[in-house]
Amino acid sequence: MALKPNSPDGRTRSWVQIFIVFGLCCFFYILGAWQRSGFGKGDSIALEITKHGADCNIIPSLNFETHHAGEVGNVGESEKIKSFQPCPPRYVDYTPCQDQKRAMTFPRDNMIYRERHCPREEEKLHCLVPAPTGYVTPFPWPKSRDYVPYANAPYKALTVEKAIQNWIQYEGNVFRFPGGGTQFPQGADKYIDQLAAVIPITNGTVRTALDTGCGVASWGAYLWSRNVLTMSFAPRDSHEAQVQFALERGVPAVIGVLGTIKMPYPSRAFDMAHCSRCLIPWGANDGMYLKEVDRVLRPGGYWVLSGPPINWRNNYKAWQRPKEELEEEQQKIEDVAKLLCWEKKHEKGEIAIWQKRVNDESCRGREDDSQAKFCKAEEANDVWYELCLRLL
Ligand SMILES: *[C@@H]1O[C@H](CO)[C@@H](O)[C@H](O)[C@H]1NC(C)=O
Repeated sequence: MALKPNSPDGRTRSWVQIFIVFGLCCFFYILGAWQRSGFGKGDSIALEITKHGADCNIIPSLNFETHHAGEVGNVGESEKIKSFQPCPPRYVDYTPCQDQKRAMTFPRDNMIYRERHCPREEEKLHCLVPAPTGYVTPFPWPKSRDYVPYANAPYKALTVEKAIQNWIQYEGNVFRFPGGGTQFPQGADKYIDQLAAVIPITNGTVRTALDTGCGVASWGAYLWSRNVLTMSFAPRDSHEAQVQFALERGVPAVIGVLGTIKMPYPSRAFDMAHCSRCLIPWGANDGMYLKEVDRVLRPGGYWVLSGPPINWRNNYKAWQRPKEELEEEQQKIEDVAKLLCWEKKHEKGEIAIWQKRVNDESCRGREDDSQAKFCKAEEANDVWYELCLRLL
């Protein structure tokens, strides 16, 4: 030490200084160790926040009106603020328009029963759907890509059903998402590397993507790590909570299905669309589903299809499906893709990739095709209902 104390008084002061420095070192060391210890245990910080948040009366009268008219604070005496009680605990997963019992009363063709069917006025519940018991604040990104607190979506069915495909693992009080999917048990990252060999994913050419039939949305989760924002959807199906898992992971997702209603996305919104074993019958209904994908893809956008029927020659046995059926399915897809003037960029293993044309010039000759019915200007956003072809 530079300072040489030579009076008893000075000596005491320097001891006090050393003590303070030492104390601060210890404090920050322990603080650091404590913060790190949250790994894999469910975040103690998150738990703490949730414990405090459990008392919802902290701000009992949140009002989400815009107040543009400037009437803050003078809500009329007559307009009493309505308050709703929590629903009974059995409604913890209640999604009013996706109720399984109601769904089963609708036809199964074209997935009508998996579309939105909302309760009639007299069936509506006027209560707040409660969070699952023990719900904690989800982990922040990027940890949330790989971990979800068990209490937030306590469903283990997928850990068993999709065990060898590495969708999701149960580890005490958290679920871990190794990034696997049916078509990519080795993890979404490796799978995306394969796609990136064909599609320029990382240089800004692809910024938005759509994942149809997303499972737990690992594809979107891993693309987010590469600065591509993905919208994912999947129906509410027998695997209880796939979309819920996606949301808990911090990946944009909605319950949705390609049935009889067009997709709720604007035209040309996506740079890439993706289906990996998504069970959408792409060749069916005169190519309606593919025409809809064409609508939401921007010119030059990519469509990725992996899994059946691609590579049916080698896989029909494993998939337990007749060769002829798979061959016909792929042929139909190729036919529609041709009609849409998509360019087949790649087919290797079970992955096939098409690219939407960049401009109209790149697809002369299509006008002569008697099958091609082109959309009138006003129906260009309704290819789904008109079964027409967009010019772009
Ligand atoms: C990205 O890469 C593709 C393919 O190599 C290329 O055609 C494109 O011009 C690149 N875009 C940018 C913004 O560098």
